[in-house]
Amino acid sequence: MLFDGVDLRLNVGDSVAVMGPSGSGKSTLISCALGLVKPEGVVRVADSDLGLMRRRERTRHRSRHIGVVFQFGELLPELTPLENVALAGLLAGADRKETYKTASELLGSLGVPRHNRPTGTLSGGERQRTAVARALVNQPSLLLADEPTGALDDTNRSAVAELLFDVPRRWPCALLVVTHDAQVAALADDTVHLVDGRLIPQETR
Ligand SMILES: Nc1ncnc2c1ncn2[C@@H]1O[C@H](COP(=O)(O)OP(=O)(O)OP(=O)(O)O)[C@@H](O)[C@H]1O
Ligand SMILES: [Mg+2]
Repeated sequence: MLFDGVDLRLNVGDSVAVMGPSGSGKSTLISCALGLVKPEGVVRVADSDLGLMRRRERTRHRSRHIGVVFQFGELLPELTPLENVALAGLLAGADRKETYKTASELLGSLGVPRHNRPTGTLSGGERQRTAVARALVNQPSLLLADEPTGALDDTNRSAVAELLFDVPRRWPCALLVVTHDAQVAALADDTVHLVDGRLIPQETR
């Protein structure tokens, strides 16, 4: 059994970092929050129990309430940043004009330069800013990030980490970041350590 009594709650405005060594279950924890892995316990997102939903309902709930940022951005390299961000809105069923407007505003406020270059030609830092914008386009109440700075150099790592932990102060959502990077985790309101399937608060270690 990977987890043993994991209890984690986040309210809008909160940021929590989960640290743990490789293989401790950080990515699996993200998968549980996304409803991609069904643990024995209960996972509630935006007041609804993911385990009680049918697959389609869970997919809709996920796209409406959860945004995710991955280690390598997972953007489509041929599309521009604007197209990448807007696509996530369109796939969730949003109005085309509205989505492009929201996408453009988000990219602006997250500091992605305005241009029509394919995303694949941007710097790693710009790509991760784009990935954050994409995660926010559907106004999620929960933002998840799995090693969001793992592929960046030192300068971009601090810039993207600061921008990410600023999100719950600027938009009404909660942020859960899993990372093995203590400097990144230090920016969170709370840090917990995933050890032998349990979450240990930072201060009691
Ligand atoms: N659905 C699952 N059920 C049970 N165990 C799983 C499942 N998926 C992955 N595992 C195993 O759980 C362990 C934790 O994997 P996970 O990818 O969550 O670790 P991680 O903390 O994200 O590691 P890393 O820092 O390397 O990304 C691994 O041993 C993995 O093989
Ligand atoms: Mg992982």
